[in-house]
Amino acid sequence: MKAIFPGSFDPITLGHLDLIRRAAAICDELFVAVLINPDKESVFPLQERLDMVKSACGGFPGVQVLTFTGLLVDLARELGAGLIVRGVRGGNDLENETAMAWANTAMLPGLETIFLPASNGLGGVSSSLVRQIARFGGDLSAFVPAGAAEMVRARFHDT
Ligand code: PNS
Repeated sequence: MKAIFPGSFDPITLGHLDLIRRAAAICDELFVAVLINPDKESVFPLQERLDMVKSACGGFPGVQVLTFTGLLVDLARELGAGLIVRGVRGGNDLENETAMAWANTAMLPGLETIFLPASNGLGGVSSSLVRQIARFGGDLSAFVPAGAAEMVRARFHDT
């Protein structure tokens, strides 16, 4: 089945990368979609987020990376994807993700969402944590894929 792993990836983290790897292992074709989250103003421009995701997982077998500026359900329609995969790190995520899954299925009946739990040790990793560490020049190696770390550092050093 074709599946989408959507996110704002502002920036991509090792938690995302772990989920993408695990999602790819259970889907025939996985589209990693870099999207706009209208609830959050992003720090990294869309193109930069796309480049970071591509550099981290562009070469994974069965994985394609793309960007889209509309609704996730419209992307699912366009790609013929029937499944959304999202990661959950705990109770808050589960509540928010469930509401998003309900909304997506209401707009596109038949579209399913599955949740993958964050792997042990990665549940505390988030893009906002990475932004804080980068802002103050901390070591990003435990949080961000190696290929993306330089881009993350550059954005904060340039501002
Ligand atoms: O990584 P995030 O910020 O938690 O991802 C949220 C994202 C980008 C998946 C969500 O905001 C989204 O799907 N945006 C596209 C617009 C859309 O379809 N919104 C309605 C979702 S119910």
